[in-house]
Amino acid sequence: MRRILVTRDHREVALSDLSLPISLWPPETPLEIEIGFGKGRYLLSRAAEAPERAFLGIESAVKYYRLANQRALRRRSANVVTICGEALFLISCCLEPGRAEAVHVYFPDPWPKIRHQRRRLFEPENVDLVLSLLRPGGRLFFATDHTEYGALVARLLEGHPDLEVEARSGPWPDGPRTNYEAKYVREGRSIRRLVATLREDCERPSLHPEGAAGVVVGW
Ligand SMILES: C[S@@+](CC[C@H](N)C(=O)[O-])C[C@H]1O[C@@H](n2cnc3c(N)ncnc32)[C@H](O)[C@@H]1O
Repeated sequence: MRRILVTRDHREVALSDLSLPISLWPPETPLEIEIGFGKGRYLLSRAAEAPERAFLGIESAVKYYRLANQRALRRRSANVVTICGEALFLISCCLEPGRAEAVHVYFPDPWPKIRHQRRRLFEPENVDLVLSLLRPGGRLFFATDHTEYGALVARLLEGHPDLEVEARSGPWPDGPRTNYEAKYVREGRSIRRLVATLREDCERPSLHPEGAAGVVVGW
C-alpha cells in the first residue's frame, strides 16, 4: 500500500517525504485522533463543531479514505488531516506520542479468527501503541457491537494501572457517532461503549501488564 498523507490544503504527500514524527499543529492546539474513520461521518462532523481543535484521521482502506477526503474538501474542513495507512505502523513510526486529548476508535475490526488476532488494535501487545497517543488526562473513546472483543477491550483497559475506565450504559450524549453505530442502533444490537481516561499525572503510560512479557528490549 502506498502510504500517503493529505495536507490541510488537500495535497497528497508520500510519508517517505516527511520528517518524522509528523508534527502538524503547534503543541498548544488541542488534538483529537480517530482511528478507522470509515466514511468520515464522526471525524468531519466533530471537526465542524470544534473549529479551534485539530483532527487527525487514520484509515487503512483507500476507498473510504478517498471518500472522506472528498467530503472534507467539499466542506472546506481546514482543521482535518487524514492519513491513509495502517494505524499501528503509523503510531509506531510516524506520530507524536503523548499529544492527543482524545482518541476515538469506533467499531474496529474484531478479527475473530485466532490467527488474525494480532492485527487487533486492542490486544495485550498492541494496546500500548494506541494509548501512547494520549496526553496526560487524555481520553480514549471506544465502541463495539462484538461481544467477545468488547469484553477483551474492557478487561485490558480496566487492567491498566494508569487508566480510569467508565462503561457507558446508554448512547453517547450526541447520539450515534458513526455509520456503523447508526446502523446497529437501528437494528437494536447491543453496543459496548467505553471511555478510558489517562491519569493527569501520567506523562507516559506504563506498559500493559498483560503485554509487557512480550516486549523484548535489546541495547
Ligand atoms: C468496521 S469499520 C468501522 C468504521 C467506522 N469507525 C464506523 O464506526 O462506521 C472499521 C474501519 O477501520 C478501518 N481499519 C481497520 N483496521 C485498521 C487499522 N489497523 N488502521 C487503520 N484503519 C483500520 C477499516 O478500513 C474500516 O474502515
